[in-house]
Amino acid sequence: MSTSYRGLNPTEYYTLHPRPVYLIVVVKPDGGFNVMTIAWLTPVSSDPPKIALSISKDSLTHKILSENGEFTVNILGEEHVDIAYRAGSISGFKVDKWSMIGFKPVESKFITAPGIDGCYGFLECKISNMIDVGECTLFIADILSIHVRSDLVEKGFWNLRKARILLHCRSRIFTIPGRIIYATTRR
Ligand SMILES: Cc1cc2nc3c(=O)[nH]c(=O)nc-3n(C[C@H](O)[C@H](O)[C@H](O)COP(=O)(O)O)c2cc1C
Repeated sequence: MSTSYRGLNPTEYYTLHPRPVYLIVVVKPDGGFNVMTIAWLTPVSSDPPKIALSISKDSLTHKILSENGEFTVNILGEEHVDIAYRAGSISGFKVDKWSMIGFKPVESKFITAPGIDGCYGFLECKISNMIDVGECTLFIADILSIHVRSDLVEKGFWNLRKARILLHCRSRIFTIPGRIIYATTRR
């Protein structure tokens, strides 16, 4: 007997979650910082190192990125779940989220946008291309620099027993990776 499948509407994109969730930081024209939560972000090239991120045209982050193109991607853990939800539930058009949540900046090497103190790490990025995909724009960006918390990495990768990387399921539901498994097939 074959496996039984049930059909879902193509708008049920949460079927592709859980996915890692990040905070994007941009610099506002007045020099202050804006933060937004994003789950639709993925590596797309290692040479040159590039990521792609899909951002709603209604957001303040979209407006700023279209103008100055620089941002940081901040990697989150279990302990950041509430700030992830808050920064993704209200727009910087309405409030100063940076001050409201009480973030502290960590200086970047190559861009003005800072990292967020206490996050697991951050990437300094600069937009290279933009693609209109409907309600969102897909921004393609070069990774200029990567910073990771020294207490959370081991031999160049996350120590997954310590770094409980936050994943988004849907609405207020998040999860973290549960256990490490190894593929047993040899090449
Ligand atoms: C867990 C989570 C994931 C989100 N992922 C995205 C995303 O991938 N793309 C997007 O445009 N908005 C996403 N959002 C919504 C934005 O974070 C939200 O619209 C935010 O208020 C925009 O902020 P801004 O206007 O200050 O830039 C997400 C929200 C949450 C809570």
